[in-house]
Amino acid sequence: MLVAIDGPVGAGKSTVARAVAQRLGFTYLDTGAMYRCVALAAIEDEAADHVRDVAVLHIDFEGDRVLLDHSEVTEAIRAPEVSRRSSQVAADPHVREALVDRQRKLTERGDWVAEGRDIGTVVRPDAELKVFLTASDEERAARRAAQTGRGLEQELADLRERDLRDRTREASPLRRAEDAVELDTTGLAFEQVVERIAALVAEVRQAANRERT
Ligand code: DC
Repeated sequence: MLVAIDGPVGAGKSTVARAVAQRLGFTYLDTGAMYRCVALAAIEDEAADHVRDVAVLHIDFEGDRVLLDHSEVTEAIRAPEVSRRSSQVAADPHVREALVDRQRKLTERGDWVAEGRDIGTVVRPDAELKVFLTASDEERAARRAAQTGRGLEQELADLRERDLRDRTREASPLRRAEDAVELDTTGLAFEQVVERIAALVAEVRQAANRERT
């Protein structure tokens, strides 16, 4: 089974998706981390004056650790410079094609909670459950500021810039799949959101069981 969780930056996708996966015993896939790895590789390549094509990059997950070409980059891919660069590389159709292909292969078998911007629309429109998480701009900026320690105004400006780029790019822009359940997490505790998604998964399973019998 696949649970697709999409939504804009700061809507709580990572925290929620990780907790839902843990609760259900599913594997968590952070597709944003893959775009971040491509962005970090681009920044490193500029400094080294050579270019690695996305097709030759090794991006691996070991539990909560992220590895790029066999080196740990879990922390490095969260730097603000990498965040900005990631929304630029994510607009490149060549990058998207390569990563979407990997994401499809990874989630082909087993039970997954995959989180990103286009899981329910492009990567796996056949996902058994699609959730689109949102929250107000101010709440999303406040959550980011708590994570990064930067000012609220700076985070608000940054996320609006990234949102605009993610929503208006030509290659798979961020949008809600028509059959996705929209969950506005403004003012909700994260446990309530996890609870709601777990309940939706139970409903999907019950419906599938009824169909089988
Ligand atoms: O979720 P995140 O902030 O780690 O994502 C980093 C960037 O990658 C963000 O600008 C959106 C982009 N992204 C995407 O275009 N498609 C995805 N499936 C996941 C992330």
